[in-house]
Amino acid sequence: MTLRPDAGPSTRAVHAGEPPARVGEPVVNPIVLSSTFFSEPDGTGEVRYARYGNAPNQIAVETRVAALEGAEDAVALGSGMGAMVCALLANLQAGDHVVATDAIYGGTRTLLSRELSRLGIETTYVDYFSADWQSAVRPETRVLLGETPSNPLLRVADPRPIADAAHAAGAVLIVDATFASPINLRPLEHGADLVMHSATKYLGGHSDVTGGIIAGSRERTEGVRARARVWGPMLDGHAAWLLERGMKTLAVRMERHNRNGGEVAAWAEAHPGIARVHYPGLASHPDHETARRLLDGFGGMLGIELRGGGPAAAHFVAALRLASLAPSLGGVETLVSEPRYTSHAAMTPEQRAANGLPDGFIRLSLGIEDAADIIADLDQALAAAG
Ligand SMILES: Cc1ncc(COP(=O)(O)O)c(C=O)c1O
Repeated sequence: MTLRPDAGPSTRAVHAGEPPARVGEPVVNPIVLSSTFFSEPDGTGEVRYARYGNAPNQIAVETRVAALEGAEDAVALGSGMGAMVCALLANLQAGDHVVATDAIYGGTRTLLSRELSRLGIETTYVDYFSADWQSAVRPETRVLLGETPSNPLLRVADPRPIADAAHAAGAVLIVDATFASPINLRPLEHGADLVMHSATKYLGGHSDVTGGIIAGSRERTEGVRARARVWGPMLDGHAAWLLERGMKTLAVRMERHNRNGGEVAAWAEAHPGIARVHYPGLASHPDHETARRLLDGFGGMLGIELRGGGPAAAHFVAALRLASLAPSLGGVETLVSEPRYTSHAAMTPEQRAANGLPDGFIRLSLGIEDAADIIADLDQALAAAG
């Protein structure tokens, strides 16, 4: 398959990295589950071994994601956390310092605060939207770490000024863009050095595969590959095949996620039982202008605050018939979760409220069902919540 260099994202999602068409060969990449591959008898050539990340399905995923991100290279790992840990270890050593947004995914926060701290790497958390990034940087700062859009308030930050602060200090900017997918945002175009995804979410898209991605320049991804080879969190062949298959429909799925996001957000904003809606596509969202400038779509993630608070939320989730109460996001099915029981369970209700997450806050990951059916379900659940 030969793609035009300016092929659009939908075409790249379906075809990037495919081998040339040959009569009799399969149109779809076969699954190769072999963990090892025949070597040259004289010891020349690449040693191929699944943990080294150079098995066929791993390479297929990496080529496809790199094409979507506009990156020189990508590394496919066994989970989003596997990807994040390898990206951090590739850029840090004992005595180094990280500056991270305080709105970072909980697992990443635990990784920084409980694991990397044990290796002598310290982290300072800053408000994503303040000028604190600059002042938090120290001579030993090597990584600045952002996440956009953020969970679950869907705040959207421009990576550019943070990248400038990182580069002025000789550090790198890593951005977790899981909530956007490369269809809606490509942080490398905005100055980031590495972009990270939990491929478990939109890239896979069907809630049936766990994976992670790091993409950037080859110079940077080589460091990530070197860590992954030794620490070992590689993506296995079957998961890689599922991920490649899921990515073929990424662009069309995102179109529907984006459309459903807009329709449900508009409905929610007009509903008397909902006190506030967090969706970057709404003019009422604090980052609406930034989102319009940076994003190619506002996504399918939405936060709503029920007027009835925690008790109403309990009735609401119990009454849902189409949407399911489950963590995770980015799949074809609509999922809801309550941050008080998931990402922000470690905080008191008062701390959560001070962070913009009063009890009664529901996070919605809108699937690709018909918007009318999603809205009908949310509407009846709200009626049941009283
Ligand atoms: C924004 C974000 N980053 C990273 C992760 C970690 O990904 P994984 O569960 O694939 O390890 C998650 C998982 O929920 C996430 O939501």
